[in-house]
Amino acid sequence: MKIAVVGSGGREHAIIWKLLENKKIDKIFALPGNGGISQLAECIDIGADKIDEICDFAEKEAVDMVVVGPEVPLAMGLVDMLNERGIKAFGPDKNCAQLEASKAFTKEFLERHNIPTARYKEYTEVEGLLSDIGIYGFPMVIKADGLASGKGVVIAENAEDAEKAIRDMMELKVFGDAGSKIVVEEYLSGIEASCLCFVDENSIVPMASAQDYKRVFDGDKGLNTGGMGTYSPSLMFTDEIEKEVRENILEPTLAGFKKDGMKFKGVLFVGLMLTKDGVKVIEFNNRFGDPETQSVLSRLDTDLYSILDAVTENRLSEIDIKWKEERAVCVVMASEGYPEEHPTGIEITGLEDVEGAVVFHAGTKLSDGKLVTSGGRVLCVTSMGKTHDEARALAYKNVEKIQFKGAHYRKDIGLIIEK
Ligand code: AMP
Ligand code: GLY
Repeated sequence: MKIAVVGSGGREHAIIWKLLENKKIDKIFALPGNGGISQLAECIDIGADKIDEICDFAEKEAVDMVVVGPEVPLAMGLVDMLNERGIKAFGPDKNCAQLEASKAFTKEFLERHNIPTARYKEYTEVEGLLSDIGIYGFPMVIKADGLASGKGVVIAENAEDAEKAIRDMMELKVFGDAGSKIVVEEYLSGIEASCLCFVDENSIVPMASAQDYKRVFDGDKGLNTGGMGTYSPSLMFTDEIEKEVRENILEPTLAGFKKDGMKFKGVLFVGLMLTKDGVKVIEFNNRFGDPETQSVLSRLDTDLYSILDAVTENRLSEIDIKWKEERAVCVVMASEGYPEEHPTGIEITGLEDVEGAVVFHAGTKLSDGKLVTSGGRVLCVTSMGKTHDEARALAYKNVEKIQFKGAHYRKDIGLIIEK
């Protein structure tokens, strides 16, 4: 079989690595892939947002399935277009992809179906929003409605910071059109957890839980990033919480999809806050999380292709998905300055000394035979262990063997941080 995987990050590297366990897959194309992915798949120079070119390529190569990694092509309707051409594709259609592409769309969905979430209000005018600063007290949660690479949320500690964030989003358009509409939410305190689920029209099946660390610095300080590290399973995600999530969030979500005529097929990523008043939804994404996938798929015992194929054919309930007992920890190494301006093209060394970790590449490329940085998040060093502490120690031991100038990473991935 031939598969095409759309995307170029650590998530796509992990998906490809896992798909290759299926012996029936003899060829994977990565569109566009990266330096690490090129060791497993043929990288084709077509960007993830070039949806017409992706369709043409998939048709020409007669691939058996296209797996879409990132949110942007999903929001552009790539899966609909592939399906129209008779090509099997994993990921939700354009209508369902609004669950990530518009925060207001998701809040309306959650409210309509009585799914627990923070109180919120939406705004399209600066003046109305400025006069509502502090409406739910401080910190004030201010979100650009549209896609902003995980960076469109500001948690403002005071009125001055709130005003700056609002003006940046609505007047200076720092997130482009994504900031034309703003959602303001009540601040939720608690511990975050990510629950990724496989979903088809009949079932919603949670994967092993994971914990992400979104802020750039230790102790959850600094700017939000795409994610600086993860571990799985989450230490906070007890059986009791899992039951609450299933009953109060996942089942009503599936019922809501049916009621609203949304034929969601793919991965629903439910961002959760475990609060004193119960578990609440922070956000929905409609794809595998990055870097959650690196930890979660490391623990998947079942053939990934069979699950993806079943989802596309509404046969998910027939698959018995199994997880390894071992724990996983993934530490992201990032470029100097990330998530703000950062250099690229910096040589990476030490990878040959890695032992007991899989290094998924997020932002690397080969240049004159050398591996160099090509993005903000560069490498995702992922280790497994019999215990959580063992996995954590092994991941950090390997991180220390890898060098590139200005590299930074969090030292507290795998520790519990309460807000
Ligand atoms: P989002 O892109 O909506 O997931 O938000 C990014 C991050 O901002 C989340 O992972 C949380 O850490 C934080 N966040 C978002 N909404 C809230 C909220 N209502 N209360 C507290 N923190 C939040
Ligand atoms: N790690 C968070 C995300 O993938 O959105």
